Amino acid sequence: MDLFADAPAAGDAPHYRVLARKYRPADFSGLIGQEPVVQTLSNAIRQNRLAHAWLLTGVRGVGKTSTARIIAKAINCTGPDGTGGPTIHPCGRCESCRGIAAGTHLDVVEMDAASNTGVDDVREIIEAVRYKPASARFKVYIIDEVHMLSKNAWNALLKTLEEPPPHVKFVFATTEVDKVPPTILSRCQRFDLKRVPHARLQAHFAEVAAAEGAVAEPEALDLIAAAADGSVRDGLSILDQAIALGGGQVTADAVRAMLGLADRRAVVLLLDAVLAADARAALAAFAEAHAAGAEPLALFEGLLALIHATTRRAISGATDPGLGEGERGAVERWAETLDLGLLHRLWQLALKGHGEIREAPRADHAAEMALLRMAHGAGMPDPVALLGRLSGEDGGAREPAPGAQQPAVGPSAPSADAPPADAAPGRAPPAARADAPPADTARAAGAAPARALAHPVVDALMASFPGADLVALFPDHVAHGQQQRMAG
Ligand SMILES: Nc1ncnc2c1ncn2[C@@H]1O[C@H](COP(=O)(O)OP(=O)(O)O)[C@@H](O)[C@H]1O
Ligand SMILES: [Mg+2]
Ligand SMILES: [Zn+2]
Repeated sequence: MDLFADAPAAGDAPHYRVLARKYRPADFSGLIGQEPVVQTLSNAIRQNRLAHAWLLTGVRGVGKTSTARIIAKAINCTGPDGTGGPTIHPCGRCESCRGIAAGTHLDVVEMDAASNTGVDDVREIIEAVRYKPASARFKVYIIDEVHMLSKNAWNALLKTLEEPPPHVKFVFATTEVDKVPPTILSRCQRFDLKRVPHARLQAHFAEVAAAEGAVAEPEALDLIAAAADGSVRDGLSILDQAIALGGGQVTADAVRAMLGLADRRAVVLLLDAVLAADARAALAAFAEAHAAGAEPLALFEGLLALIHATTRRAISGATDPGLGEGERGAVERWAETLDLGLLHRLWQLALKGHGEIREAPRADHAAEMALLRMAHGAGMPDPVALLGRLSGEDGGAREPAPGAQQPAVGPSAPSADAPPADAAPGRAPPAARADAPPADTARAAGAAPARALAHPVVDALMASFPGADLVALFPDHVAHGQQQRMAG
């Protein structure tokens, strides 16, 4: 088998159709992830209750234009023998279906409002709606990116929408439904097309790759589905490039390199080092990833994504389907052992680091400093518990200084004079952890009474948890302490 036999040579470019167009669904059975829309339309067609105007909303590449064309076919199809009526399964063979598919049907007019914002085009439409269709059952006007129409164009259109002739249908598509005037919205049947779920995308890309005779690693398709972020078109464009790049072989490594994704494994290593409060390991992991070409900013985006995924997992038990396999395992492991307070603090520190990387003259230096701060923060006791103790709840017992090597991950046995379990870095009792933000956790556990802290304590806390928004975390304590400081 010679996979490269049909690969287009550079000179063949005009014959080459990008995958996203080649695999445009011809009917509703090919439209993935939009079942509710198809169901509602089926019912309408079956009951012969067709709206005058439909509005399709959704992010780019989820099937708005495709759906608009399928609707035009569905309501105009006459069946192969010319006797059929509107159907949810357009035949694809009658004159109407073929003309619409080829984009040559006189009665189906597509207009892109992004390039025609003037009233003139709308005037033309309004003139034309008075005449009966040339050959089809309905004249169909498909207006894409309809939110771009000017105010005058809307006003011109509104009159027609108020009393559309029975042989005219409008299909509007938009990525920004908020910009569509309410007077128009109220005259349309609205369909919200959804981002297509990760697993459906991955399965779809596997089918397309196979149909193209390409050999794709499942992990590569997983990465493409994650990068597509719900958009079928975006994913197909990436797949297209990946197939071209690998000459028919689509490997995870190639996709990673192509997408400029920071190596996700490097991010897992990095976060592992941070969570172990192992500053040296964190710097080493960063140096290695950086040398391999990872961008500091992308690494921090990766860290934020993992912290977010871990927090979500700890609360809902659900794993983000956008994660690769290696990350999924790590996220599950972290979600079981880390407490929410620590995750919140790490999120803040990572986010701050992300901002600093952008501003600093040397991105790598800023990244290193931020990582050190995170590793340091991970080795600190939970400030909620610390606050409870500093404010005198337990008679002022001293917090044992956490050693730099003390792992923040995993259960740490409370010592005899230790405060309640949530004071220990790392693990919190699952019941308290499950659904409460840190401040509430502390209150629920009775650890942090609403008592003002002396300002030196606030200052010390600020210094100990750089970047952490203490006021947001402990409004009562810190605000009072700060007031005192201002007053003094
Ligand atoms: N729901 C979907 N099911 C299958 N393919 C889709 C879907 N949405 C988009 N596509 C693919 O992406 C391409 C562009 O889709 P399109 O309908 O133009 O998206 P939109 O108008 O929402 O930006 C299609 O040709 C098709 O290959
Ligand atoms: Mg479109
Ligand atoms: Zn047909």
